[in-house]
Amino acid sequence: MTPTATQQALPAQAPPPSLAELHEINAGMQAFQVSVLPSGREFGVNQGEAMLAAGIRQGVGLPYGCKDGACGSCKCKKISGVVLHGPHQSKALSDEEEANGFVLTCCGVPFSDVVLESRQVTEAGAFPIKKMPSRVMLLEKKSHDVMLVKLQLPANDGFAYHAGQYVEFILRDGARRSYSMATAPRPSPVLTALTTTPVQAGADGAGVTPTPTPTPTPTLPVPPAPGHGLELHIRHMPGGKFTDHVFGAMKEKEIVRIEGPFGTFFLREDSAKPMILLASGTGFAPIKAVIEDMQLKGIDRPATLYWGGRRPADLYLDDWVKAKLAEMPNLKYVPVISNAVPEDNWSGRTGFVHAAVLQDFPDLSGHQVYACGAPIVIDSAKTAYTTEGGLPEDEFYADSFITEADKARA
Ligand SMILES: Cc1cc2nc3c(=O)[nH]c(=O)nc-3n(C[C@H](O)[C@H](O)[C@H](O)COP(=O)(O)OP(=O)(O)OC[C@H]3O[C@@H](n4cnc5c(N)ncnc54)[C@H](O)[C@@H]3O)c2cc1C
Ligand code: FES
Repeated sequence: MTPTATQQALPAQAPPPSLAELHEINAGMQAFQVSVLPSGREFGVNQGEAMLAAGIRQGVGLPYGCKDGACGSCKCKKISGVVLHGPHQSKALSDEEEANGFVLTCCGVPFSDVVLESRQVTEAGAFPIKKMPSRVMLLEKKSHDVMLVKLQLPANDGFAYHAGQYVEFILRDGARRSYSMATAPRPSPVLTALTTTPVQAGADGAGVTPTPTPTPTPTLPVPPAPGHGLELHIRHMPGGKFTDHVFGAMKEKEIVRIEGPFGTFFLREDSAKPMILLASGTGFAPIKAVIEDMQLKGIDRPATLYWGGRRPADLYLDDWVKAKLAEMPNLKYVPVISNAVPEDNWSGRTGFVHAAVLQDFPDLSGHQVYACGAPIVIDSAKTAYTTEGGLPEDEFYADSFITEADKARA
């Protein structure tokens, strides 16, 4: 199908069609091929399917966050081809960006073969996405509005993920809510031994297995032991469909349905650059997983954690971080409070957490930044770091915790 034919199918100036309408429009057409540069990864897209859904289905690590046209994390440059978008927010993709050839893969449906440019496409192994029942093992209030929730996964099921990824709760009405996993996967002891025991050639050419070393191979992800629990940090949003339940009727032993792992927020282990870890509120959850992962794998790149909250109590695992500092000499910690009151006796850094980073690191050109939490913090950080701090855009990795309120505000 040519661009002209596509344009004929849709009236000019029409509001963006829904994904269902796009599916109808290109029903009967062939499936198309998407190629991603510079990695050269290729995958097929079914009729009416958004490129991201097809990429996830086939294990291609395209970057994304909300999967719903709201955050802009999946934005990439289209080198060639015809793509029509389903509903999305102009904050995620402006008309000007679209005119300049940018697309959102989460709601962009191809109408021809397409070539994209996305430097963040990962080589890291993509793990199978599973739907699982799981049991709430523990509910522990960490502050007035943060609940630590531990989920027990099915005992016979090794759930593999990258530290930093998230799961979705599937609610009774089919709605979904995303929560980042706050612990690194604990490798199964047997598999760890296998992957850390390289076989070397002996003098006669036969394999010789040296004594296992205690350091796991960082590039080869191993599935965690079966029955592994998941820790989540859930902030109460009054009036929220799911978090009202978490802070109200939810009880330990409740069975919930989750699906995952999702997301492309995880440590890029092929870089030696120093890192800024930026968390606002419960954005600390995936950052905690990344810190644990670094420790488990013996990664000693310099990392500075900036964790922001309104009041000191919002830094609900401050003690955990301080204990890690004693164990990880490469880790530094800067807590930042924006709305301290006199009875807090706060003598540390104040102001906006993303701004504190630039005060300390005015030149970020040689860094990687990993940022999670409130969309306003993530958006402000990305803009400031790339424009004022010289951070290359593709060295900013983030999950923006978009909510229904953010979507409605756009
Ligand atoms: C990739 C990702 C990872 C995330 N990880 C985490 C995490 O680790 N921890 C965490 O706490 N959160 C996380 N979130 C946010 C989380 O998914 C939920 O959005 C959040 O918990 C709110 O869910 P809810 O169902 O309680 O509220 P919702 O029903 O989504 O409502 C949120 C708020 O908006 C209001 N609202 C609802 N609809 C409208 C409307 N139409 N107009 C105006 N206001 C409205 C509600 O009253 C409420 O205050 C993540 C989000 C993403 C995208
Ligand atoms: S806009 Fe596409 S993943 Fe958020």
